[in-house]
Amino acid sequence: MNEKTLVLIKPDAVAKGLTGNIISDLDNLGLKMIGLKLVKVTDELAKAHYLEHKERPFFNDLILHITGKLHNNAPVIAIVYEGESAIEKIRKLAGSTNPEKAELKSLRGKYGRIHSETKCLETVIHSSDSAESAKREIALWFAQDELIK
Ligand code: CDP
Ligand code: MG
Repeated sequence: MNEKTLVLIKPDAVAKGLTGNIISDLDNLGLKMIGLKLVKVTDELAKAHYLEHKERPFFNDLILHITGKLHNNAPVIAIVYEGESAIEKIRKLAGSTNPEKAELKSLRGKYGRIHSETKCLETVIHSSDSAESAKREIALWFAQDELIK
């Protein structure tokens, strides 16, 4: 099925200079990039994005992480991809949530780690987990006219 999905290259990856490598791996999936921007993430946007995790014990650290506060105030790179099975293809490339358990050649296997103080999982990228989440997340991060038709 043709799908759209949101990818966020997270502050840990931006701060480590991994943006080029990550976009190169994403390009190799053969999907179409239809939106891209650099975002300095506010607390408000971070909390709206991760609303589903509001009650989880790691929520506060997750907000510190995605707003760049654990990584020199690095921004996030937000990208929308479109294509056949885009959601599943990018989730597979990302790998399991725990970087230590992620497949070695996945993005999280290659580049992820667990933050030594907060124990926050530095998961390198976010990617939407369903068509429903993708729709909500793309609308949260992009205005309609920022996406290529
Ligand atoms: O990112 P993904 O959809 O694979 O995982 P999630 O369960 O939706 O969690 C969202 C994010 O919360 C993860 O990517 C991690 O950055 C963070 N997290 C964490 O720090 N500690 C956990 N035990 C679980 C998630
Ligand atoms: Mg998730």
